[in-house]
Amino acid sequence: MAKTSKAKEMEGDVYYPSEQVIAQARLKDWDALAEKAGKDLEGFWSDEASELEWFKKWDKVLDDSNKPFYKWFVGAKTNIVHNAVDRHLNTHRKNQLALIWESEDGKQERTFSYFAMNREVSRMANIIKAMGVQKGERVTIYMGRVPEIVFAMLACAKIGAIHSVVFGGFSVDSLQGRIDDSESKLVITCDGSYQNGKIVELKNIVDEAVKRCPSVENIIVVKRTGQPVNMEAGRDHWYHDMCALPIANGKCATEVMDAEDPLFILYTSGSTGKPKAILHTHGGYMVGTYSTLKYVFDINDKDRWWCTADPGWITGHSYIVYGPMVAGATSMLFEGGPTFPYPNRWWQVVERYGITVFYTAPTAIRGLMRFGEAWPNKHDLSSLRLLGSVGEPINPEAWKWYFRVIGKDKCPIMDTWWQTETGAFMIAPTPVVPLKPGSGTRPFFGQEAEIVDEQGNPVPDDTEGYLTLKNPWPAMLRTIYGDDARYVNQYWTKYPGRYTTGDSAKRDKDGYYWIIGRVDDVIKVSGHRLGTAEVESALVSHPAVAEAAAIGLPHEVKGQAIHTFVLLRSGFSPSPELAEELRQHVSTHMGPIARPEDVKFLDKLPKTRSGKIMRRVLKARAQGLPEGDISTLED
Ligand code: WT7
Repeated sequence: MAKTSKAKEMEGDVYYPSEQVIAQARLKDWDALAEKAGKDLEGFWSDEASELEWFKKWDKVLDDSNKPFYKWFVGAKTNIVHNAVDRHLNTHRKNQLALIWESEDGKQERTFSYFAMNREVSRMANIIKAMGVQKGERVTIYMGRVPEIVFAMLACAKIGAIHSVVFGGFSVDSLQGRIDDSESKLVITCDGSYQNGKIVELKNIVDEAVKRCPSVENIIVVKRTGQPVNMEAGRDHWYHDMCALPIANGKCATEVMDAEDPLFILYTSGSTGKPKAILHTHGGYMVGTYSTLKYVFDINDKDRWWCTADPGWITGHSYIVYGPMVAGATSMLFEGGPTFPYPNRWWQVVERYGITVFYTAPTAIRGLMRFGEAWPNKHDLSSLRLLGSVGEPINPEAWKWYFRVIGKDKCPIMDTWWQTETGAFMIAPTPVVPLKPGSGTRPFFGQEAEIVDEQGNPVPDDTEGYLTLKNPWPAMLRTIYGDDARYVNQYWTKYPGRYTTGDSAKRDKDGYYWIIGRVDDVIKVSGHRLGTAEVESALVSHPAVAEAAAIGLPHEVKGQAIHTFVLLRSGFSPSPELAEELRQHVSTHMGPIARPEDVKFLDKLPKTRSGKIMRRVLKARAQGLPEGDISTLED
């Protein structure tokens, strides 16, 4: 990796791959493959899919006869677990590690070979079946970062049940809404989880949530912290007790699934209303996560790959669990965070396990930068060969620190732009692509991105506009579970025939894409996606609040932070104590990640004449910027 004289060929700050990186790369000629895939989209994806095992091959790669309800690998039979686990058992990978886990306190380490993974997943699959869960039914998983969350996801997939993982940092209301919407019969949870040395009482939160979820019949509880929890006879079952039953043996057949059968739903925040259940399928998602990880991170089965995300977000689904295991790599799952007990915790893990590829979020890098170089410099990070970034734009300053201090000037940084909806990387380089700090470079093979104006006309280079995607791709969401109309409206209506991402971006003269941010009411707090509507409804559930508005404002470490404005009911008056109570209220109801940075009391919220809150105006005022077009403002 060097800034050579070649930098003249491209504009801006360019980092070219070193000869060593090129020599190691599986794909040397990016342009040739991009051109080939561009000419023959179906041929490209057919080749990728052919590297995996199918019970029955497809009749057709892509069916676009009923747009935007695209179908991939039509007529094919498979199961993602067959490729993530079963197929490795007949190869040299059988005794290689699939998963390495380390506890937050560093005192426990658990490792699972692919052979062991098959046993654990089969056991849990048998237990889930014994709870009466059938193919196509939903199971909510609400757990901490423990190996059993991986078993639970794969176990559902193995028997054809649809998992719905809810991030363990969410709280009662968020969990309740998601269980209820999915009509899950079964919830899998833990007694508690650890966060920075403190216990998060997961089971208590589940108990609270299911009071308002009539669909739930059974709750499986994995013991992690050992603190006392309420166990309701007939409904709640300790996982370790069930593992002792004869049915919980290590043999369970993998269900034959149609390529288009649902694999999971994952709730994500949209611009308005309640979170959307994004639906992904066995076949296309499997091929998409496999192929992107293979090319972008050049993953092979000798790699020790570590994605620091939580399995409860799409990044964890695609790149802790499914992608790495389909690729036959070793995936690291670390229970803790980067700075507990000290800011060297992650680098300790990299050194201890010889991590080769490390994938994290800009917010974490910015947070760690503040503690200085001495912490990473205490550790031998020489096993690293590639780095990755995801979740929000990475500022060049953080990029350069990451490159120099963590990657020692030799590890290219793969900045991957994608979404819960896309399932897999959409704009991302490969190791041989010259990099520009802050850009995800170009669309992945087979994809074309276009930046357009309000009317859908392409804008000139270096001009900000709406980011759209022109081609379908296998790992694309298939719908919003239970709401096809919302799927069509949300993603395919503003610019018919193309996918609307909700992001604004620019393209430079070299064809590199620069993401600017969301154009809707989605806030990215520390890379986590939250909706203003959810925060607002948590606020108005407090007796003092009549109306509320939430906006995201720039934050040095978090990227964006939540700022709120409330109008009090009569009888309540503004005070610092009430502001603090409201922040706590949001945290208790939604989860600590949604705790507002501040609460401001207003006598009036800026609204349109039709009564819609103008968050744009609040945002401009808060930043001291011009308010823009306010002709629709009430008065
Ligand atoms: C939104 C999607 C699936 C990745 C994890 C987040 C932003 C994501 C990048 C990046 C700039 C990024 C976008 C996108 N985003 N990756 N590399 N550079 N922005 O998934 O929670 O569904 O959020 O995250 O705004 O729309 P998500």
